[in-house]
Amino acid sequence: MRSLSLTIAAATTILLATLSTVHAQDGTPTGITNTAPSTYSCDPKVCLPPACMCASLKPPGGLDPKTVPQFVTITCDDSIQADLFVTAQKLLAAAKNPNGCPARGTFFVSIQYTNFALVDQWYAAGNEVADHTWTHVGTPPAAEISACKEALNAYGGIPRGKIQGFRAPFLNYTLGTLQEIAQQGFIYDSSATAVIDDANWPYTLDNGLANDCWSPGLCTAGALKLPGVWEIPMHSVVDDTQIPQLMDVYLAGTSANVTSWYNTNWQRHYNGNRAPFGIYVHPTHMTNYVGLPDASGYLNTMTSIIATLASNPDVWFVTNQQLLAWMKNPVPASQLASQSYMQCNQPVIAKEICNGLDDTKQGVIDKNLTNQCTFNTSDFQTCFNCPATEPTAANPVPASNVAVGSPNYRYPLPDTCDSIWWDPIGDNCLCNSSTCAYKDVSQPITKNGTTNGTTNGTTNGNGNSTSNSNGKASGASQIVNTVGMTIAAVLGALAIVSL
Ligand SMILES: *[C@@H]1O[C@H](CO)[C@@H](O)[C@H](O)[C@H]1NC(C)=O
Ligand SMILES: *[C@@H]1O[C@H](CO)[C@@H](O)[C@H](O)[C@H]1NC(C)=O
Ligand SMILES: *[C@@H]1O[C@H](CO)[C@@H](O)[C@H](O)[C@H]1NC(C)=O
Ligand SMILES: *[C@@H]1O[C@H](CO)[C@@H](O)[C@H](O)[C@H]1NC(C)=O
Ligand SMILES: *[C@@H]1O[C@H](CO)[C@@H](O)[C@H](O)[C@H]1NC(C)=O
Ligand SMILES: *[C@@H]1O[C@H](CO)[C@@H](O)[C@H](O)[C@H]1NC(C)=O
Ligand SMILES: *[C@@H]1O[C@H](CO)[C@@H](O)[C@H](O)[C@H]1NC(C)=O
Ligand SMILES: *[C@@H]1O[C@H](CO)[C@@H](O)[C@H](O)[C@H]1NC(C)=O
Ligand SMILES: *[C@@H]1O[C@H](CO)[C@@H](O)[C@H](O)[C@H]1NC(C)=O
Ligand SMILES: [Zn+2]
Repeated sequence: MRSLSLTIAAATTILLATLSTVHAQDGTPTGITNTAPSTYSCDPKVCLPPACMCASLKPPGGLDPKTVPQFVTITCDDSIQADLFVTAQKLLAAAKNPNGCPARGTFFVSIQYTNFALVDQWYAAGNEVADHTWTHVGTPPAAEISACKEALNAYGGIPRGKIQGFRAPFLNYTLGTLQEIAQQGFIYDSSATAVIDDANWPYTLDNGLANDCWSPGLCTAGALKLPGVWEIPMHSVVDDTQIPQLMDVYLAGTSANVTSWYNTNWQRHYNGNRAPFGIYVHPTHMTNYVGLPDASGYLNTMTSIIATLASNPDVWFVTNQQLLAWMKNPVPASQLASQSYMQCNQPVIAKEICNGLDDTKQGVIDKNLTNQCTFNTSDFQTCFNCPATEPTAANPVPASNVAVGSPNYRYPLPDTCDSIWWDPIGDNCLCNSSTCAYKDVSQPITKNGTTNGTTNGTTNGNGNSTSNSNGKASGASQIVNTVGMTIAAVLGALAIVSL
């Protein structure tokens, strides 16, 4: 991948020169090769599922590929903002699962520019929220990773045990990055790339990496041993000229070209070993911005491709966590509809609570219930308390701007409730049956990535504060702020160039 830094630098320079080049080639890590390391070895007699899984081109459980569900993983990366959220929803809306449930996807969220109320909504709709650092940096420092998780928990209300996945910005990770996410209690990484010869099913890192040895020492025999931590390889789309396209494939050719590439690669998966098929995007490239070229064509190409995939039998659009649930207990496609992790029942809650859902079917999610938190360089909505000062990677969850017990206080998600049932205003878990009961048993979020927190995870920063400041900006600076954020968001997206 790894002409990346050059690509990024070049693209950013061009973008600064003229915003109209936002559609610069993105997500074409031409350096991807079939890098299955000769050093990888794994004995399936020793590495036993579900705790351990050897990397393999074959589906787990000895299943015949013809009976295996064809999983499709749609992943979106970077900040969640209103427009980007709509784009991501449109992708998922292009397909349905065979059991009638909506297609699901995973959002690798970077915190800068993210609106936390939308994080909540993405999760409440049955999708997955994963960690993509705070400020979107390559080879991220530990605090960038832990701070992201803390904020997703504190302001997005995602149970920390449900934040299980990590993807490195720019797919730029090292041996140390993988060790760090294991240390911080993540269940999987999805930053490694696959072409054809190494198009592995997800596997655990007990025996190291079997893909993508791009960084020194990554695949040195015995260097990496992370028992029970999964790698979900990103499967590239090999184009007509044999270049593996990984992310934002739609930027790399005409709509007809891209559709044809997806079709060719799809046939290889669907009629082959049925390894999961990936659609990896940055919604920003498919979203229209004032003053930039119309991006609808990209979105239309992708929704059309997704709809075509969905028209085949036994095709399931899943989150990475659903995929791993299946990996740990593989069942034939005929039994998938009834698995607990494939269900889609919205909680029945008699009043509107701030949980990311339209509980009372008024046509509005969390009507009049979210807090607006406004700071000098960011603003967001949340079902939880606004912090008194702007959150940063070094201080992700500052003390809140209201005192515990005061009328406007929002109670943090406890370890004993899933957020779709949690009323942060009423301090009440509205789940009253064993089917919705939840107990978070994940390890406390690691502070700065080096030591375990002294709290049990959800209390940091939600304690009281005497400060009443909510950092309200003036109307004028608000406008400047908004424009600034839009441009910055585009920059951030462009600079993604592959992340
Ligand atoms: C990976 O990220 C680090 C830190 O940001 C940077 O120094 C390095 O150049 C990046 N490597 C690539 C290949 O982009
Ligand atoms: C795009 O499609 C055209 C027409 O089929 C074809 O000639 C061309 O080789 C394709 N380009 C790539 C890069 O696949
Ligand atoms: C449990 O919750 C449901 C949905 O909110 C409600 O209809 C039901 O009355 C509750 N049952 C009890 C015993 O509280
Ligand atoms: C929203 O809630 C506030 C109190 O928190 C209330 O004053 C206001 O009237 C509400 N607005 C609407 C549209 O319900
Ligand atoms: C944020 O804005 C306030 C007032 O608008 C100002 O007093 C404060 O210094 C600013 N903080 C930063 C970090 O720029
Ligand atoms: C966390 O890291 C920041 C700088 O990245 C530092 O200022 C802060 O003191 C650290 N906190 C702890 C608890 O180590
Ligand atoms: C705020 O916290 C302090 C120290 O924990 C405590 O003494 C005080 O009573 C708390 N205030 C409120 C309003 O809960
Ligand atoms: C953090 O806690 C987990 C589980 O409680 C433990 O396995 C891990 O070693 C701890 N890490 C540190 C640095 O204390
Ligand atoms: C964390 O939770 C465990 C079990 O719920 C409890 O025994 C322990 O005292 C808690 N620790 C802290 C620091 O709250
Ligand atoms: Zn990214």
